[in-house]
Amino acid sequence: MNGGLSFLADERTLLGTGRRRRCHRMPGTDLCVKFYHRDDALPPDTRLTTRLTITWGRICRLANVNYREWRYLQRLKRQIPADLAAVFPEHTEPVHCPDRGWGIIETVILNADGTLPRKAADELKVQVLSNPQIGRALYDAVEQLFKRFVAHGICFFDPSNILVQWTGPETFRLRIADFEPSCRALLPGLSRINFYVRCKVRRRATRYLRRLDAILNGARHAPPVPSLQRVSILRRLALDSGLMM
Ligand SMILES: Nc1ncnc2c1ncn2[C@@H]1O[C@H](COP(=O)(O)OP(=O)(O)OP(=O)(O)O)[C@@H](O)[C@H]1O
Ligand SMILES: [Mg+2]
Repeated sequence: MNGGLSFLADERTLLGTGRRRRCHRMPGTDLCVKFYHRDDALPPDTRLTTRLTITWGRICRLANVNYREWRYLQRLKRQIPADLAAVFPEHTEPVHCPDRGWGIIETVILNADGTLPRKAADELKVQVLSNPQIGRALYDAVEQLFKRFVAHGICFFDPSNILVQWTGPETFRLRIADFEPSCRALLPGLSRINFYVRCKVRRRATRYLRRLDAILNGARHAPPVPSLQRVSILRRLALDSGLMM
């Protein structure tokens, strides 16, 4: 497989980067592959806890976000309606590379014109100026999606990762290619408790929808998302459990 991943060294195949991962298009396919950044390529402001989780994830498969995403999606797709599962990449499979650890191969998500989808908040900022009706439809679609995630107890805790995929000039689908099912909670295993998951998804969704609402209604600046780093452990526990907003 290593030889087959030689395109990772070719920057032209790079689709995007996040705080932890790089995503490369697999040439000649409709797939992409994501691995953690190399240690020397992590953004300089990467937190120590992120560095430690990445190091641990390279060693331990079950701690690796790529592997966890794949495993969770396998389970999820058996449990939820097909139209809801279609929000996530159609195909995913784990891949191992000796010098990069575990990665995930998945269907690439592109707009009909071949461009990369924008995140929902960014797309909304564009649409409120050019086509407010579509902006409203986008807000409603995000709200509906969250209602379904809460109803099904889906571990999706980072709303800012919702993508808007244009399937035609005025038609779109909401898509998600980045989610962390283990939810980075203080206590391990919380993401297995349905009540906890629902409360947390609902709380995050409320906060995110407030932000989208501010964009939709022309607020110059969306309300800042409070940093979890600056809150006490007790408050963080209450926030994580959905007892506080
Ligand atoms: N399936 C996909 N199709 C198209 N582009 C993708 C796909 N998956 C990831 N990308 C691109 O790669 C970028 C990095 O991937 P991803 O967001 O999964 O990394 P991450 O490190 O988990 O991000 P974050 O810092 O937000 O947690 C994305 O922002 C997106 O531009
Ligand atoms: Mg991520």
